Amino acid sequence: MRICFTIEDMRTACREERSSGKRLGFVPTMGALHEGHMSLVRAASARCDAVAASIFVNPTQFGPNEDLAKYPRAFENDRELLEKEGVELLFAPSVEEMYPAGAVTWVAVEGLGDKLDGRSRPGHFRGVTTVVAKLLHVVEPDAAFFGQKDAAQVAIIRRMVRELNFSVEIVACPIVREADGLAMSSRNAYLDPVQRKQALVLHRALMRVKECWEAGERNSAGLVGVGRDEIAREKSVRLDYFEIVDSNSLYSVGSVANGALVAVAAFVGGTRLIDNIVLAGTAG
Ligand code: PAJ
Repeated sequence: MRICFTIEDMRTACREERSSGKRLGFVPTMGALHEGHMSLVRAASARCDAVAASIFVNPTQFGPNEDLAKYPRAFENDRELLEKEGVELLFAPSVEEMYPAGAVTWVAVEGLGDKLDGRSRPGHFRGVTTVVAKLLHVVEPDAAFFGQKDAAQVAIIRRMVRELNFSVEIVACPIVREADGLAMSSRNAYLDPVQRKQALVLHRALMRVKECWEAGERNSAGLVGVGRDEIAREKSVRLDYFEIVDSNSLYSVGSVANGALVAVAAFVGGTRLIDNIVLAGTAG
């Protein structure tokens, strides 16, 4: 696996792969890799001839009171995992390389960027779209792979790619969960054993909503109520949002049809976790 620390080196390496006629897949990450990330790498390997990954803890998507400084970093372990999985190119730039002093250019998807996590984390999605746009320009992949775990992120990136005419296919991959249902996340590392159990309430709440929807309930307020009540039963967990929205526009829906996105964010201790499901079934 070739590791590139500069934009110039990465750009040259990616162009070399593509000039030999290979279809290049790209998996952007912030490192501290787990099975969720690795599922994206495997999806990229299955659909492409060569795979590039990036590890960059992007400061512009963290708010001033968020966990940028303590975000888990595990470069050696990550490097090994990617190498074992057959990744050809790894881009691991420094903050200075990605954001030269005085940079003032942003990419923002207005409207969508202020919904769900964007509402509780002002500026978060502007940081995401800016760094993803930059990474796509450096790598110029044929396809880029994202996790449905961050459903709003996928919707926003799809919109950016469409409206700014990026020549890349965006592939969304299913959420990878622990055996007990907890969605895998680099931030799960912050949880102590008690919090780890409490965190299961997010998935439980989503499953309760799914059951009610499958039983025929279509009223959004009713379904959201079911989800919020379930979260409230876990006293130490503080709800940030519980919403049912259109998967593409991220607007709240009144009546919940097939394909709607049920999304939750909650604090377990100081750790903010997110999870979601897309409602799907013949009954929809
Ligand atoms: P990060 O949180 O490291 O996630 C990298 C990719 O892995 C994202 O597309 C995310 O949705 C996916 N992922 C995380 N947990 C997953 C799980 N349990 N199942 C499936 N996929 C999962 O998301 C980011 O980094 C950043 O915002 C980034 C896109 C790299 C821009 O900085």
